[in-house]
Amino acid sequence: TAKTIIAPSVLSSDFSRLGDEVEAVARAGADWIHLDVMDGHFVPNITFGPPVIKTIRDRTDKVFDCHLMIAPADPYLAAFADAGCDIITVHAEAGPHLDRSLQAIRSLGKKAGVSLNPSTPESVIEYVLDRLDLVLLMTVNPGFGGQAFISAVIDKVRRVKALVGQRPIDIEIDGGVTPETAPLVTAAGANVLVAGSAVFKGGTEAAYRANIGAIRQA
Ligand code: DX5
Ligand code: ZN
Repeated sequence: TAKTIIAPSVLSSDFSRLGDEVEAVARAGADWIHLDVMDGHFVPNITFGPPVIKTIRDRTDKVFDCHLMIAPADPYLAAFADAGCDIITVHAEAGPHLDRSLQAIRSLGKKAGVSLNPSTPESVIEYVLDRLDLVLLMTVNPGFGGQAFISAVIDKVRRVKALVGQRPIDIEIDGGVTPETAPLVTAAGANVLVAGSAVFKGGTEAAYRANIGAIRQA
């Protein structure tokens, strides 16, 4: 079985030193860099957008995994592609035209993802499976790092795995991932783990290496 991909979320890093934090976590063993974009409308928090992503793009060759918690998303997809995002994930709930958003991302030459809030049923992906490169299942309500893992979503991971079948679609988990919760979702079929607070606690490259190692071991 393929290696689990660890995608640290810079949401929990020191924003005043964002470029250095991206370099440090990349050296510490991150596979992808997870970028949480929030608009203060779709979610009750505001983070950063394309200009900030552009400034950190040359700090690492790692995949930039961009999680858009914004509504509407379509008017900004080209800007995120230009900023250097490799995977662009929109929320199904940010709608109304998920199929159109996914087509737009692929036309920009990027990988297309859809994210589902904890309360959203997996059936929303049924008719867009062939337009998807990634499904991101939220295990917290989006907006903040450091929240508790919602275990009801574990069943949804199994159901998404079954829907996906043999298609080359990544199944990513985001929210409350720790060495304790990681094995629950990988056993259910997830192959990409986002972790914010569990990676960035400690504040040094050595701590990030140990934290990533602990999740990988689990
Ligand atoms: C939440 C974000 C997550 C967040 C996860 O809205 O999408 O990526 O950073 O943080 P932790 O791992 O601390 O739950
Ligand atoms: Zn995220």
